[in-house]
Amino acid sequence: MNILLLGSGGREHALAWKISQSQKLGRLFIAPGNAGTAQLGKNINIGVNDFENIGRFAIENNLDMLIVGPEDPLVKGIRDFFQSEPALKNIPVIGPGLKGAQLEGSKEFAKDFMLRNNIPTSKHFSVTKEILHEGFSFLEKMNPPYVLKADGLAAGKGVMIIDSLEEAEKELELMLEGKFGQASKKVVIEEFLQGIELSVFVITDGISYKVLSEAKDYKRIGEGDTGLNTGGMGCVSPVPFANNNFLKKIEERIINPTIEGLKKENLDYNGFLFFGLMNCNDDPFVIEYNVRMGDPEAEVIMPRLKTDLVEIFESVTNKELNKLTVEFDNQSCATVMLVSGGYPEAYEKGKIITGLEKVKDSIPFHAGTILKDGDVLTNGGRVLSISSLGRNFKEAIKISYKNAALIEFEKKHYRKDIGFDL
Ligand code: AMP
Ligand code: GLY
Repeated sequence: MNILLLGSGGREHALAWKISQSQKLGRLFIAPGNAGTAQLGKNINIGVNDFENIGRFAIENNLDMLIVGPEDPLVKGIRDFFQSEPALKNIPVIGPGLKGAQLEGSKEFAKDFMLRNNIPTSKHFSVTKEILHEGFSFLEKMNPPYVLKADGLAAGKGVMIIDSLEEAEKELELMLEGKFGQASKKVVIEEFLQGIELSVFVITDGISYKVLSEAKDYKRIGEGDTGLNTGGMGCVSPVPFANNNFLKKIEERIINPTIEGLKKENLDYNGFLFFGLMNCNDDPFVIEYNVRMGDPEAEVIMPRLKTDLVEIFESVTNKELNKLTVEFDNQSCATVMLVSGGYPEAYEKGKIITGLEKVKDSIPFHAGTILKDGDVLTNGGRVLSISSLGRNFKEAIKISYKNAALIEFEKKHYRKDIGFDL
């Protein structure tokens, strides 16, 4: 099978790493990819939202499958684009169409979907400029902190958690005036959920689903979960507090009703589904849906996945996922993210990375890296995700830290406390 994978982060390197181990793989292309994916397939210089050129490439290279890594092309409708073109409509796309991708593309859509399908989530109220005063009354009835979310995609920056009512009201106005552009012309106000976060991953063919294990992501830049939010500074899978009893609650109360809801509402969903959850006193609540794998969650889930990933994708496109057994390694996997100094605020790119060849017992998944004249250079905020397997999460983390220290680039930074709270 000839496969094109869209994206250029650590998630895509982890997916490419797993795909490249499949007996079923012919050629693997990654668009645009990074210095890590270049070792596993051929990087193609096409952007993830350049549908016309992706389509042309698919035809010229006899593609058998398109796998979409990030949310943006899904929310913009890449699947519908393929289905509407006679020469492309027989190429299966892994990822939902426009309608299904609304689960991530619109916070309001996701909240209303959960309400309609009795899926536990926090109370909410959607506000536009016209009904600003109703937004204020909703805020006044709630307890702090106040959660304000841009309805649309805002590159992971559209969520504000604010302690004072006065500030929350000011922020609500700023958002509705376009602080996050079109994405915040509608704002969803939510009740704050107190608890510990985790995420659970599922792959579905629209009829049945397989759980792809769970993970815990460390989102803040600073140790002890302090400072600004990032794309993710480290991750652990499985999650020690997610025992069988808790996972059963997630499946019964959240995953099953979600898949049934997708069917009932004809959302024609296939691909990954990411459940961002809060454990509130041993009861799971949905914080958000994402319509893709997580990053860095993919970097701890792919190394634990024993089943052939291309076979899983094939079962998805044939709608025969129920016939497949998906197996995971019992070992734990941890990843530590090496980032550019300054991230998630301003940072420099183009720093030479050395020491990658010294890493023996971890997998250095590339995120923001690029090959230039034989050197691997930094090319983003998150640079490398150092993943390791171990008998337990502590052992896995220790191996990742040992190898994180062997890799050098100017202003390298990483959190030293991944797993501190487990
Ligand atoms: P989201 O983009 O919806 O995942 O929100 C980003 C982060 O904000 C989440 O990972 C949580 O840490 C936090 N968050 C979002 N919604 C809530 C909520 N209702 N209660 C508590 N924390 C939240
Ligand atoms: N690590 C969180 C995400 O991928 O959205």
